[in-house]
Amino acid sequence: MPHPRIRFAQLQDKVISAEQAAMCVKDQMVVGMSGFTRAGEAKAIPLALVARATKAPLKITLVTGASLGNDLDKKLTESGVLARRMPFQVDNTLRKAINQGEVMFIDQHLSETVEQMRNLTLKKPDLAIIEAVTITEDGLIIPTTSVGNSASFIEFADQILIEINTSVSTALEGLHDIYIPTARPQREPIPLTHVKDRIGTRGIAFDANKVIGIVFNDTPDSASNITEPDLDTQAIADHLIHFFEDEVKQARLPANLGPIQAGIGSIANAVLSGFKTSPFNNLVMYSEVLQDSAFELIDAGKMSFASASSVTLSKACGQRVFGNIEHYKDKFVLRPQEISNHPEVIRRLGIISINTALEFDIYGNVNSTHVSGSKMMNGIGGSGDFARNAHLAIFVTKSIAKNGLISSVVPMVSHVDHTEHDTDILVTEQGLADLRGLAPRERAIQVIQHCVHPDYKEAILDYFHRACAKGGHTPHLLQEAIAWHTNFETYGTMKP
Ligand code: COA
Repeated sequence: MPHPRIRFAQLQDKVISAEQAAMCVKDQMVVGMSGFTRAGEAKAIPLALVARATKAPLKITLVTGASLGNDLDKKLTESGVLARRMPFQVDNTLRKAINQGEVMFIDQHLSETVEQMRNLTLKKPDLAIIEAVTITEDGLIIPTTSVGNSASFIEFADQILIEINTSVSTALEGLHDIYIPTARPQREPIPLTHVKDRIGTRGIAFDANKVIGIVFNDTPDSASNITEPDLDTQAIADHLIHFFEDEVKQARLPANLGPIQAGIGSIANAVLSGFKTSPFNNLVMYSEVLQDSAFELIDAGKMSFASASSVTLSKACGQRVFGNIEHYKDKFVLRPQEISNHPEVIRRLGIISINTALEFDIYGNVNSTHVSGSKMMNGIGGSGDFARNAHLAIFVTKSIAKNGLISSVVPMVSHVDHTEHDTDILVTEQGLADLRGLAPRERAIQVIQHCVHPDYKEAILDYFHRACAKGGHTPHLLQEAIAWHTNFETYGTMKP
């Protein structure tokens, strides 16, 4: 009896066990796997691979859309399977292995991974392992809660394994819009001119001869683990809303602000939640991930449409959205991350990007990735795709971290992900610095006046004045510029 979720006749006899599928993974392979911000990753085959590796060790390069849920990165790291990992992760165990130099992590702009495979600068996957809701009679793989890089992995890989997740409703069919750019240099413009546009197919086309097995799983995505909004994140949201109100008054932004992107993590989610009580209506998002806040805004009647590459929700919000998918289906779309994060589209739509920094400096350089300059946190993710090409590149952070032992505003960042040339607005709970059109010395005054925590204000002002006395277009005292970080390493605090 053919399984109702395998509607494509040629594949009905392809069902195998996860253990059989795991045996298809060979030592030194490049594996392209679905999964983006803990959503839509293949679940059964990686676990079977972990079990297999404990008996017969092997090493692979694992390329995904972004981070994986269900502790897969942890388990794959512990079983020694990962030789190389790209382009993003959020797991503690993998993070440690990366920082100990045991796993080679390639931290990439999320829009670029498959572009580099297309150009042969990155090796194409030998094997694609993709989670799906169903395979249609007309030969389309319908992804689950993320699209990520799956469409291109399926195109590029020599072999394909499909995992059908029966815990995900088949009603998701119709939610996705799959478009793959053509090869350069003859590429046509990406025909997306409005956030709502559908420019591709409802599923991923594939070569059935490459499918070597279909596995079933019934494991849900991990629930998101973001923390609740607090007074600081509410203050950041308030500063931003006030700023946007003024921009609308000055006719620099339309009444609904135009398309918004909001980054991953607790702070960006909380900031977006703050828009519930804002005066703005008919908001739209063009982002890479939709967190709870996007659906809170949709439910509050504040947001009319959202485009992204994945949906990562808390348990309660997940049940509300995926339990009533027909209600939400005309309110959002999921695209390949190459399209959700594409510089061409971001520039064309005039996106307001709001991402979280670990730290920024007085001149507006931003560190999103490296704690104390050398330890990888998560990765740059899509923050660079958006910030570099956005109409307004906004970075938010709390002004202090680790109970005030760290100032998130420093004389010089210990690692640069986003340069001063790409950042427009910096916000902490203390206030908002508008850096547009300002020279470095003017930028520093804005940042120090508006963003620095009172505990660090005097020290940073003193640094800036002495640096200015020495001179330079971007004044610095190099011996002191990263002393705040070395003080933290030596004394456990940045405080003078
Ligand atoms: N120095 C050292 N650690 C710092 C720090 C700093 N200046 N600022 C924050 N931290 C620590 C926090 O203490 C916290 O540590 P914990 O996990 O031990 O509690 C951790 O960093 C996360 O900070 P949090 O305040 O909870 O923020 P978040 O969940 O919003 O995450 C980033 C912030 C920067 C780590 C996260 O947004 C990220 O990975 N960004 C890069 C990718 C990106 O922007 N993608 C967006 C495109 S969608």
